[in-house]
Amino acid sequence: MTAQTLRDLLPTASGRTIVVRSDLNCPLDEGTVTDDGRIRASLPVITQLAEAGAKVIVMAHLGRPNGTVTPEFSLAPVAKRMRELTDIPVTLADDITGPDAQQRAQQLEPRQILLLQNVRFDARETSKNDTERTELAQEIAALAGDHAAYVNDAFGAVHRKHASVYDIATILPSYQGTLVATELHVLNQLILEPKRPYTVVLGGSKVSDKLAVIDNLLDRADTLLIGGGMAYTFLKAQGYDVASSLLEEDQIPVVKDYLARSAAGAAKIVVPVDTVVAEAFSADAAHAVVTVDAMTSGPGGSDALGLDIGPETANIYAEHIAASATVFWNGPMGVFEMENFAAGTRTVAEALSKVNGLSVVGGGDSAAAVRALGFDDEQFGHISTGGGASLEYLEGKALPGIDALAK
Ligand code: 3PG
Repeated sequence: MTAQTLRDLLPTASGRTIVVRSDLNCPLDEGTVTDDGRIRASLPVITQLAEAGAKVIVMAHLGRPNGTVTPEFSLAPVAKRMRELTDIPVTLADDITGPDAQQRAQQLEPRQILLLQNVRFDARETSKNDTERTELAQEIAALAGDHAAYVNDAFGAVHRKHASVYDIATILPSYQGTLVATELHVLNQLILEPKRPYTVVLGGSKVSDKLAVIDNLLDRADTLLIGGGMAYTFLKAQGYDVASSLLEEDQIPVVKDYLARSAAGAAKIVVPVDTVVAEAFSADAAHAVVTVDAMTSGPGGSDALGLDIGPETANIYAEHIAASATVFWNGPMGVFEMENFAAGTRTVAEALSKVNGLSVVGGGDSAAAVRALGFDDEQFGHISTGGGASLEYLEGKALPGIDALAK
């Protein structure tokens, strides 16, 4: 069965309480949202419902507080940013289904928004026990009263079998949010007959996070460009001395297998030819560009850390990207938060912004990187709000939050 969409719900939304699950998990710095991309991406559905006359209760998580009330993970900064971005009144409950949320839900008027406190402050949200999760979902549904409905618009969380993502959809009439629908539409273009050449750029720190997606994309993409911390495991697998760079020794056999599949005709795997090594993991550490066969000769010697792809690699990657009709990028090429190690990520982002075809930036980190480096969202075909979720979708895994809506 296909999911019902917002279009099905809007004509009947007036006067009802609609519970919306959004992914408002934004990076914070000292209590201020530093990248509001997920808030901006989530507001259209929330405000459309409010404008249609609904009382809107929004559920969201922030970080991983593991079931305890942790002030640093309060949604207060998110509520503040929401108020700056919409004229519709937004209040924040002190709890999730406790007395404050109950009172606010009762007093909620049509065309108002009530944001519940971080759902992960309640251990039942992420519990492996179905009964516990169902209990929380029932409490949330009870807040919304009779004739309520549920909208899942939290694409970034659809891979989680959590109470607010999965179980509540089995209790209330459920609908797929527009953001979720858009994300699936774009990601499907990467899976079903992508226009070629199709290039995938993978970075970030851990190979182990990306193994399943590499496995799947080796038979679908034409080229995989490898950067970020994970590149050093690929280089080590090819016999290079990577000094003290990030290394997942136990993944070397798997990486060797991927390189062999690539050599035997699967997607071409391209690894760095040069890298920026530093003598320490700090913004002002001494650093130099070296070829990948000379990593111990830079500052730091055998203690050196590779913190970015080098300029020659960045240019090679940019050329591959420029020649592509479809590009998917997940994971920064280096420690972009430090200016000395941001050039590789910047060059790749620049190339991606000029693709003559479909360019998709996937994931929290890569999305934050392009914005932090000063690019506009409009310069890319699509910036996904889902990191893990978009990878799991490309891996071909079932997504509980999507499946629950189709039941
Ligand atoms: C994300 O940041 O990718 C989503 O908000 C999901 O967060 P999680 O990985 O903590 O479940």
